Amino acid sequence: MNRTFLLSNGIEIPAIGMGTYPLNGQILLNAVHDAYSVGYRLFDTADNYYNEEDFGESLSALYKNTSAQRDELFLVSKLSDELYRPGTLGGGFNKGVYFWKNSPVMQGEKAVHKVVRQKIANTLRSLHTDYLDLLLMHWPYPDYFEEIWFEMENLYKEGLVKAIGVCNCRERHFEKLRKNCTIFPMVNQFESSPLNTKQALVDYSKANGVHVMIYSPLMNLRLKTSDAYVEFLQELSNKYHKTKAQIVLRFDIQRDFTPIPKSAHKERLQANIDIFDFELEEEEMRQLYSFNEDRQTLPESKSCPGL
Ligand SMILES: NC(=O)c1ccc[n+]([C@@H]2O[C@H](COP(=O)([O-])OP(=O)(O)OC[C@H]3O[C@@H](n4cnc5c(N)ncnc54)[C@H](OP(=O)(O)O)[C@@H]3O)[C@@H](O)[C@H]2O)c1
Repeated sequence: MNRTFLLSNGIEIPAIGMGTYPLNGQILLNAVHDAYSVGYRLFDTADNYYNEEDFGESLSALYKNTSAQRDELFLVSKLSDELYRPGTLGGGFNKGVYFWKNSPVMQGEKAVHKVVRQKIANTLRSLHTDYLDLLLMHWPYPDYFEEIWFEMENLYKEGLVKAIGVCNCRERHFEKLRKNCTIFPMVNQFESSPLNTKQALVDYSKANGVHVMIYSPLMNLRLKTSDAYVEFLQELSNKYHKTKAQIVLRFDIQRDFTPIPKSAHKERLQANIDIFDFELEEEEMRQLYSFNEDRQTLPESKSCPGL
């Protein structure tokens, strides 16, 4: 059983979703089918996951083979500079195709407007839909941060996206937008876990009506960590008859966040959403917080432009 949180504009967002990176093809199609059948309604993709077309095919199969309807799904995509192009990860970095001032595609009049329009048209076409539930700026691209946001505001006002937000932003980025924006970001998607609670940013988000989505929520379980952390998760796991992954995801839910774990396996998809029948005690939450060591792992999380 899934539940929902409310965004600042009154729209409901599921309390947990499925991450889709780096899935594609038949594996993605099967995973989307399995995820829907066990209760997921939110799916998270991005233009630079290069799986939007395959995700669209997965959705078409879902509509055909199940009773799924577009309006019960919550589709999330992102505007990216397309840092990682297929085939270049090992052999070269294709940095800054979009949203960087020195890029050839950003020359000329109204470049941001044109690129954002091109990207959203492509995303909507790929996903076989005429609106997104949530569009996120994938990173606070310093050369065009505000311009991209203003264009996203226009998409929102035109009804092409039901909500807009950002990823990997810190307090200062929100303050930069606050000066001239007409719509304050409704969501911030970032990396967090008991090892990296980002409490100041979380407090800021709550105070300003910004809903938090958590990416890579299970990463902390794959890191080398203190024995005390592992032992405490095991203790909770034994007490609640839940896995460590379920304990960590439940920690997110009780912080009022929407985590988006990715799995290509039905039993894990099912387990990851089976977290609504128990509650961590206040003292247990407090102990989990105590393992914070501000440990960020992904590059997009670690590096953040000053603006
Ligand atoms: N906005 C951003 O900048 C940003 C950055 C990174 C990621 N994201 C989004 O966040 C999503 C999730 O992040 P992520 O994929 O990096 O990390 P994650 O969801 O924390 O971890 C995914 C890994 O954990 C495994 N896994 C899943 N459930 C498990 C379970 N119950 N027990 C053990 N292992 C389990 C998966 O393997 P199997 O598939 O084999 O089960 C996969 O290897 C991405 O797919 C993407 O949509 C956004």
